[in-house]
Amino acid sequence: MSWQESTQQKMLHLQLPTDPRWVDVAKMRLEDILVDHAYCEQKAASSCISLIIKFPEFDRMVDVLSPVVAEEWEHFEAVMQQIRKRGYSFGHPRKDEYVMQLQRFVRKGGSRTDQLTEHLLMNALIEARSCERFKILWKNLEDEDLQQFYYRLMVSEAGHYVNFINLAKTYQDPQQVERRWEEWLAFEKEVMEQLTIRGDRMH
Ligand SMILES: [Fe+2]
Ligand SMILES: [Fe+2]
Repeated sequence: MSWQESTQQKMLHLQLPTDPRWVDVAKMRLEDILVDHAYCEQKAASSCISLIIKFPEFDRMVDVLSPVVAEEWEHFEAVMQQIRKRGYSFGHPRKDEYVMQLQRFVRKGGSRTDQLTEHLLMNALIEARSCERFKILWKNLEDEDLQQFYYRLMVSEAGHYVNFINLAKTYQDPQQVERRWEEWLAFEKEVMEQLTIRGDRMH
């Protein structure tokens, strides 16, 4: 099995696939989707920077995530190019209900390693869901340029997802990580069930 295939299989561990109605409404609001997406990339970069600042003693994490900051920022620039070339306007960030809900599930306390693991798993989950959404956009958008764009980002975010999971398993007992990952997946399913389907949001 190729790396990509195995990653895609792992992505299917998401417990609830995106409601098929999402892409229909998203297609009609491409400007909003791209603006929201640009902020997602910006937040992904800043989230890696925060991890490096908050947990500098974890050498491997610092070394693995430093180049990811640059990749996420490159994604941000690429989304901005898509916005500019379509004559869309950028604007203020929108409320990110999805991430706000996930943050509620971060377990407080425990050791520094426990704390780091929680954040790594939350990041892994956001990557997995983003990857799933990019895949849907790749498969469903009519614009060929955007299709290719989302294919490229889907592959990149899948790599980030694997990074976060592997990092968690570097620092924490892998079986314990698996158990906690299952809890995160179950929680994310609940969040997805509650969120209203919005064509102006990436999540
Ligand atoms: Fe990204
Ligand atoms: Fe990413």
